[in-house]
Amino acid sequence: MAVLLEAPARNAGTGAISLRGVRKVYDSSAGAVEAIADWTLEIAPGEFLAVVGPSGCGKTTLLNAIAGFDPVTAGEIALDGTTIACAGYLAPPGADRVVVFQNGALFPWKSVVDNIAYGPIVQRRMSREQALRAAHALLERVGLADVARAFPLKLSSGVQRRVEMLRALINDPKALLLDEPFRALDAISKSAMHEELLRLYESTKKTIFFITHDLDEAILLADRVVVSATRPARVKRVLHIDLPRPRSPLMTASREFLDLRAQLTGVVHEEAEKALRRGERELA
Ligand SMILES: Nc1ncnc2c1ncn2[C@@H]1O[C@H](COP(=O)(O)OP(=O)(O)OP(=O)(O)O)[C@@H](O)[C@H]1O
Ligand SMILES: [Mg+2]
Repeated sequence: MAVLLEAPARNAGTGAISLRGVRKVYDSSAGAVEAIADWTLEIAPGEFLAVVGPSGCGKTTLLNAIAGFDPVTAGEIALDGTTIACAGYLAPPGADRVVVFQNGALFPWKSVVDNIAYGPIVQRRMSREQALRAAHALLERVGLADVARAFPLKLSSGVQRRVEMLRALINDPKALLLDEPFRALDAISKSAMHEELLRLYESTKKTIFFITHDLDEAILLADRVVVSATRPARVKRVLHIDLPRPRSPLMTASREFLDLRAQLTGVVHEEAEKALRRGERELA
């Protein structure tokens, strides 16, 4: 029986995600692939959790199980105490845990405001008028009122990402699930997105499950960074990030930040080496 890792004490709100002994084996024509071995972790309501780990170790597989896209083979995932995935059961994707996709999931034929209003109309049965009002208010709040009528493909990728986050947040989910959302952005847009996400997180305190390969990004944003072992995924190390909030990209130059990065780099490097050696063995 795996030991449950303690989550830091946070608010008593909603959005607690409990991962207990989660295992996932894909059956493919090339044989069985064990993507997740045994993942056990408690994520507190309102916690920002970042997950890092070697490519192909099973991070997206875990996110897909939480999101309701793909079933687990064993173990259990619960949201606020309600089982959403276990062997033989998978709760369908819902407005309570929303995925922000990395490669533009906005409808290109709808304006920004219509994209944001879409979820409340379709998933929460809000009237169109009410949903549009809420969408305009949200755009106003984050300083994006001037792009309300624009179409997504006319916008920079940074602004598209911001609109995607608003589209997720307007449904008032318990948790946001993000899979390398800023991977394709240039350094300047990425830094602007970090500021935006920090602002949104610090004002809404939604639980965030955030996958990244960028160690600086993980430390800057998260309350805890979990390093996954190389495939099959399991929790290898949990690093508590006790940098004060509100946070700013300027903190990346601080002594505390650099210490945390040195620690994290050491753990990640060890797993990357293992992944590399395994790749060489598999090719041999
Ligand atoms: N549908 C599938 N069928 C069979 N194997 C799969 C399937 N999806 C993923 N895998 C395998 O499961 C393992 C984990 O994949 P996953 O996409 O979860 O890794 P990841 O950690 O997200 O990688 P990356 O960092 O490159 O995004 C990989 O070996 C992958 O090839
Ligand atoms: Mg992935």
